[in-house]
Amino acid sequence: MSEPRKILVTSALPYANGSIHLGHMLEYIQTDMWVRFQKHRGNQCIYVCADDAHGSAIMLRAEKEGITPEQLIANVKAEHSADFADFLVDFDNFHSTHSEENRELSSEIYLKLREAGHIAQRSVTQYFDPQKQMFLADRFIKGTCPKCAAADQYGDNCEKCGATYAPTELKDPKSAISGATPVLKDSQHFFFKLPDFQQMLEGWTRSGTLQDAVANKIAEWLDAGLQEWDISRDAPYFGFEIPGEPGKYFYVWLDAPIGYMASFRNLCARRPELDFDAYWGKDSTAELYHFIGKDIINFHALFWPAMLEGAGYRKPTALNVHGFLTVNGEKMSKSRGTFIKARTYLDHLAPEYLRYYFASKLGRGVDDLDVNLDDFVQKVNSDLVGKVVNIASRCAGFVHKGNNGVLVAANAAPELTQAFLEATPSIAEAYEVRDFARAMREIMALADRANAWIAEKAPWSLAKQDGRADEVQAVCAVGINLFRQLIIFLKPVLPELAREAERFLNVEPLTWNDHATWLADHSLNPFQALMTRIDPIKVLAMTDASKQDLAAAQDPAAPAPATGNGELAKEPLAAEIDFDAFAAVDLRVALILKAEAVEGADKLLRLTLDIGDEQRNVFSGIKSAYPDPAALEGRLTMMIANLKPRKMRFGISEGMVMAAGPGDKEIYLLSPDSGAKPGQRIK
Ligand code: 2FM
Ligand code: ZN
Repeated sequence: MSEPRKILVTSALPYANGSIHLGHMLEYIQTDMWVRFQKHRGNQCIYVCADDAHGSAIMLRAEKEGITPEQLIANVKAEHSADFADFLVDFDNFHSTHSEENRELSSEIYLKLREAGHIAQRSVTQYFDPQKQMFLADRFIKGTCPKCAAADQYGDNCEKCGATYAPTELKDPKSAISGATPVLKDSQHFFFKLPDFQQMLEGWTRSGTLQDAVANKIAEWLDAGLQEWDISRDAPYFGFEIPGEPGKYFYVWLDAPIGYMASFRNLCARRPELDFDAYWGKDSTAELYHFIGKDIINFHALFWPAMLEGAGYRKPTALNVHGFLTVNGEKMSKSRGTFIKARTYLDHLAPEYLRYYFASKLGRGVDDLDVNLDDFVQKVNSDLVGKVVNIASRCAGFVHKGNNGVLVAANAAPELTQAFLEATPSIAEAYEVRDFARAMREIMALADRANAWIAEKAPWSLAKQDGRADEVQAVCAVGINLFRQLIIFLKPVLPELAREAERFLNVEPLTWNDHATWLADHSLNPFQALMTRIDPIKVLAMTDASKQDLAAAQDPAAPAPATGNGELAKEPLAAEIDFDAFAAVDLRVALILKAEAVEGADKLLRLTLDIGDEQRNVFSGIKSAYPDPAALEGRLTMMIANLKPRKMRFGISEGMVMAAGPGDKEIYLLSPDSGAKPGQRIK
């Protein structure tokens, strides 16, 4: 047996200012499946991640919500951790870049770089918001495009004509934060001298560390020549102050990848068998892989290895880059309901459906991956329920009825068993190189062979014939053993199904090497359905709920949609419904007993409603129009009383009140004429 490998794996750190959606999940699920495969094989594989908690976006969002950035990142970390756990993403550690370990490592790396002469300092002129007293990043400046004169364009590019420009070229610039006209101001900035590492990077990026498509892109940048990288930001900023430079902060992208190290260091403090230097030291023989999306390869293939080299640490073994996620062939779209949050998915569907679907489509390249929702239902139902689980459900009953649940020892299909054994190295190799799609194809081809063999033997017919009971047991023992093999192969993708199967098979947790053994004279536990088919209605419910997420998330700061001639845009009428659909909606008069702001939510009010016989707790995104919620108390409104309760971050919402208007201050709560009584049904 060869020595177990030591492998450290990371996924990109999600920003701590928003929810996880299915686009994110592609990366975490991909990484988790690979890590689980390595652990399954007996390697020491450690998977760390963290929230990416710094930067002005997080500072501004916290301000808008009226909470501290620390509170915001704590709330978001709890939400992210729950989403990952429920998708069965099993980090060894999920930390935060706003941590002591990260502060220490970031300072240390910066000081080492400075000591070695890799830090430069010079003055930079930038737009400054005189009202907010802060420098403005390009995306916080809006103005008129200098090329096509389109209004309301961001500071670095025009969405209308595609032009790119410097923010100083924008006409009539305004701060997107305060609306004030920005002024130009000078400030000292610190730069990482990336060109010092040109030669090292040319070698490193061409030494098998990158997929071909990524290496080609990076080569273009290297050929064009590298620029110094601005790593400082002025106060106010949420981040780490640069040692010895009061009022100057590390730019979020400086300490974000160091967060990988910090999360690992934090884990080492809890796991004495892990040695930080054995993984990160210059002479480390451990493997180090970063799974990332193709949009952040510059940070990971240029700045990061250069920082590590300059500060005396080891560099990554490889970057594993993936493409973007599309749904039904298009970019995820809020209005189509295909911008699906992790939680919204989980409210309707089991995590393993998506894990399998991703696995079945994930190759080792950087191509985008499309989730076609019809194909998703069809593929999961046909492969997992129709092929894999079907083997166990076809055979288990006969073993229980005919032999007290004991598998007989005889192997009635030595050739088929041999075929499974021979397929194993190729499946392992596919996992190893992250060609999950090939691994799934090969596993499903084995499942097809097992099903075909069972169908040919037809134990259900044999069972009806006298004197053939032994044959029935021999066939079903093979079936259950082959099912066990398939579960061993699928365990990295489907850990929960594997756990259920282990319970049914009455075995210890399966590891990869168990594929070489066979259950003989072995007692099974009773069989229960291991996986149910996806009901397409649930997929519809998920996309519907995603449209509602959009309504709840409407930015109150966004101006009402205008047609350009001063009129409000008209909302198109929804598709016709028949009377029964209308009658199914239970609309009631409701008395607002209590209305209060929700801590940690900038748009929501919590309403306590009286609808006659009962009280309801309803969250409603109307705060922007009712800044003094208490004024609503005692007022009558109308609510949808039979809307399925929705779990929100702050509690359960038991219905929806009715309001009209485009949003922001223009939200009008509907009220019945006086005389209406709470609980009366609206017809
Ligand atoms: O692009 C992003 O979402 C970043 N938060 C990823 C950071 S990855 C690492 F470098 F920290
Ligand atoms: Zn333009």
